[in-house]
Parts: sequence; C-alpha cells; structure tokens
Amino acid sequence: MAVDKLVEEYKRTHPKSGELHERAVKVFAADGTTHRVRIRSPYGPYITHAKGSKKWDVDGNEYIDYVMGHGSLILGHSHPVIVKAVQEQMAKGVHYGDNHELEVEWAELIQSVMPSAERVEFFACGQEANLIAIRLARIFSGRRKILRFVLNYHGWADELVLEPSTPGIVADEVKWIPYDLDRVEEELATGEYAILMTEGGGARMSGQIPLDFDFVRALPVLAHKYGTVWLLDEVVTGFRDTPGGFQSLVGVKPDLTSLGKCVAGGLGAGVLVGRADIMEVLSPKTPKNRQVIRTGTWNANPLTCAAGVAALKLYQDGEPQRKASELAAYLREKGNQVFKEKGIGGWLYGRSITHVYLGPFDFKPDETMPPTKDVDKIMRLETKVRLSHHLIQRGVSTMSARMFILSCVHTIEDIDQTIKALGDSLDAMIAEGTIS
Ligand SMILES: Cc1ncc(COP(=O)(O)O)c(C=O)c1O
Repeated sequence: MAVDKLVEEYKRTHPKSGELHERAVKVFAADGTTHRVRIRSPYGPYITHAKGSKKWDVDGNEYIDYVMGHGSLILGHSHPVIVKAVQEQMAKGVHYGDNHELEVEWAELIQSVMPSAERVEFFACGQEANLIAIRLARIFSGRRKILRFVLNYHGWADELVLEPSTPGIVADEVKWIPYDLDRVEEELATGEYAILMTEGGGARMSGQIPLDFDFVRALPVLAHKYGTVWLLDEVVTGFRDTPGGFQSLVGVKPDLTSLGKCVAGGLGAGVLVGRADIMEVLSPKTPKNRQVIRTGTWNANPLTCAAGVAALKLYQDGEPQRKASELAAYLREKGNQVFKEKGIGGWLYGRSITHVYLGPFDFKPDETMPPTKDVDKIMRLETKVRLSHHLIQRGVSTMSARMFILSCVHTIEDIDQTIKALGDSLDAMIAEGTIS
C-alpha cells in the first residue's frame, strides 16, 4: 500500500532516529516527544545540529528548516552575532542573581522599536507574560473575567489554552467568542471583563485564520468604551514582519503586549510591555492590597539578555524582516503556481510565516485569504500531516505542513528546492489517493 511505502522508506532512511525513538518512548509519555508538534508517525527525526536555514539528523539527512525554533529564529540557526554574544556572556556568568546593565539595554531597545512599551517586564517564556497580564488587568479594572477569541492560543496554562474543552483545565472566568465585533461589544457591555486578549496576526502563528486590520483597529476602541484592558499577544508576531510588530503594521497601540520567541534571538524568554499606569501595580510603592509581587528565577538572566540585545540590534533597521518577507512572498508565488498546475485546491498565504490552505475553494483566493469564517477548512489537518510526511522525506521540515516559517537566511535555492519537493509530494499524494 502506498501509505506503507512512505513509512517504510522513512524507516529505511532514518534508522538511528528510530533507535532514539525507542529509547524516548520509555521516558517521555507523549509518544517519546517533548512537544505536541513533534509527535510524528512513525517518529520524527532526531536532530544533531543546525546552521542558517538547515538542520541535520543523526542519520545524516539534511533538511531545509521551516520550523525555525517554533518561530523564534527569524535570524536563522546559530546566527554568528548571537553565538558570539552568548559565548562571551557565558564566560562572564549566566546568572548574577542581581541587577545588570544588559537587562536595561534590552528593555530600552524594545522600547525604541515599540512605542506602546512604556514599561517592560521580563519573564521565562511567552505564556508567563500573558499570565501576569491577566493579573495586572484584574487589579487595574477591579474585574475578574477574560474575553478571548476561538482558536487563539496564548500558552498551555488554564486560561490560555486553545480550546475551552481542554481536559483538566479550570477556566470558569474565561469566555471564548468568534471573530465578530457585535459579539465583542455584547460581551464587553456586560462590564464584567478585565481583559480582552487577541493573538497578533490572527489565530495561530501570525494568522492561520487571518485577522482583518479594521477588525483589529476596532478592538481597543470597544475595550476602552467598556473599561477593559486590551492585550495584543505578539509572542509570534513581535519583530517578525516589522521591527515594531503586528501593532505597527495595523497602526494600533495596545494597552499591553506580550512578546516571546524572536525577542531573545532564539533563547527562551517572555516579555510584557505596555502602559505605565497598568504596570504601576508592580511598584513596591503601590498599596499592598493592589501590589503584584514580581518573582521568577530566569527573568532577565544575563545569558538571555545578551542574546536579546544582540538580536534587537539586528532587528532595528528592519532588514531581517524585509528579507524574510521577500523570501516568503517568493515561496507563495511559486508554491501557488504548483497548486494551480496540479489542479489542487491549495493556497499559500500570509507574511513571513506563510500558511497552507488545503481544500476546495468556495471563495476567491488572494494574498490575505482565507475568509476568517472558514475556520474548519483552514484547520483541517489530516491532509496537511500527510503532506508534511512527504515533505520531510524530501528534505523539507515543517510544523505538520500547516505553515512555512521563514528566516532572513533562507535562500532562493532553498525555496526552489522546497517548491520541487512540494510538487513531488503532491504528485505522490495524487498517486496514492490522499489528495485530489
Ligand atoms: C501566540 C502565542 N502566545 C503565547 C505563546 C506561548 O509562548 P511560550 O511557549 O514561550 O510560553 C505561544 C507559543 O507558541 C504563541 O504562539
């Protein structure tokens, strides 16, 4: 059977990864993996090293990488400037347990590109920034409830997960609603909401379900009308398409913005930035009954700060973002030709994170599609997972073929090779009957 052929071929070319997978399933409960997206059938490759746009596995297979550190590596793998900064800092100490200049410099650099960042707070990861945002908003507004959009992801903590039906969560104060301004107003008008959370770019990784810019512009207006704090989650979009993030593309000034991924040049960090009057509750001068106590072992550790400072300096002139965007546009143009030539209902859309639509068109595709109401079609995963298996066997690594995450160090040759792999994968899928 064709399906087995692909799996058999994969096993033949990935024997050492297979051995590691056998060891891994005895330690990691999630089919031997450490993250949901790394679960693959029969198993994913085990990577030994990465450089620029490429990574290599234990069996010597080479991949053009479009996972790019889950979107944190717009500068590519092991950018020499980041490597130097981290190596130098490593020798000077990774954790002083005290204040240091790099944290100030990193915060100032963030402020220099993001005008909404009146104050800056560092954390260990993006979801921590979102969690503290909820607490700050609750104190600021004197309310408890959280308003969110369906299929927006803000982390794995109870209030931040993708779906209300997630087993094990307690999220009684959270309401998930569709992208509908009337619904937003109806909920906000109850006067019960502390915070309105919105994923930058749209639901999932910078807009798998793209957001209409006018819709985004209406959100702070409505939030302020009803006394709710508006948070824009730019963990993915921060520094990605412009130095100033999705907010500068749209022309909005959120009350609070969460950042992560690219902010630390590939090291782990989260940042919350925003209005000084909301962040004021972190001050020890605030009365105890309104004061938020600020802790966290890894906040602004010097190693991460060194990488963050080096990265921000590279982001400032917008050159990495411009290159990544140009390369992504080339990928979309060529990829969409392939879908058309093969008569497949497929479309690539987005920005430097380019999303994949697979399914029948009952709308006219363009650069900003699909229409946000077509959530189910966009999210349809089965065919994409199959495509991702074909792509990985042809040296192209993606997150379940849901998207291609570009960096500024991908090359035209990488993309031409990717387009060839896409065409060959689609041919193979047509032949085996998994796409039509
Ligand atoms: C939009 C968004 N917000 C928050 C997070 C959580 O960030 P972290 O994994 O750094 O906690 C993610 C992670 O993918 C994300 O995509």
